[in-house]
Amino acid sequence: MLTLVPEEIERYVAEHSEPLPPLMQELVAETKEVMGKRSVMLSGQIEGALLQTLIASLGATRVLEVGMFTGFSALMMAAALPGDGKLITCEINDQAISLAERYFARSPHGAKIDIRRGPAIDTLRALKPPFDLVFIDADKTNYTAYYEASLDLLAPKGVIVVDNVLWSGDVLDPKDDDGKAIVAFNQHVQDDDRVTNVILTVRDGISLIRRR
Ligand SMILES: C[S@@+](CC[C@H](N)C(=O)[O-])C[C@H]1O[C@@H](n2cnc3c(N)ncnc32)[C@H](O)[C@@H]1O
Repeated sequence: MLTLVPEEIERYVAEHSEPLPPLMQELVAETKEVMGKRSVMLSGQIEGALLQTLIASLGATRVLEVGMFTGFSALMMAAALPGDGKLITCEINDQAISLAERYFARSPHGAKIDIRRGPAIDTLRALKPPFDLVFIDADKTNYTAYYEASLDLLAPKGVIVVDNVLWSGDVLDPKDDDGKAIVAFNQHVQDDDRVTNVILTVRDGISLIRRR
């Protein structure tokens, strides 16, 4: 698991936050079995609960996700939406989509989820506003492009949530292209007068961005 805080604190946090329902525990277990090391990409219980709290407190009805993987965060967010709520999610990996679809079919919230297969930037550019919450969690080198497209789609009081903005702490000394892209992205947001943001040291770093 990615974490910037001591493991025993992380365990305490998990034990004192909303537990995962059985179906989500099963999805996590199967993702770990099938995806191996790539399962580190799962956002997990705490980030999932944070997304749910944001969706519920915003009264969100339309949510956009960039980077679905095996559907963990999509299904967590869908569960916080009202019955007529909609979540559009972008994913490029067929194996991940197949796994996600099986779990969406088993959940009463799966019908709220609309999977858009293919490069996320093409999907984003074809969508119409407004979205109350956008969760950006796909390829890091495109983060700035996803952010710009998302801002055009964002409802006036909407929030953009961006994952992995601390890149395991490497933002202090980025070594790879992903780390450098995240550093450039964080600076881009900081320099953007249209928005205000806060970075949380939850899991791998989460930036919450809204219009001024
Ligand atoms: C970090 S994972 C998403 C994790 C997911 N949000 C969760 O919490 O379980 C990133 C996903 O983005 C997908 N991805 C990467 N590049 C993409 C692109 N250009 N368009 C759409 N999806 C992409 C990957 O296949 C991967 O499944």
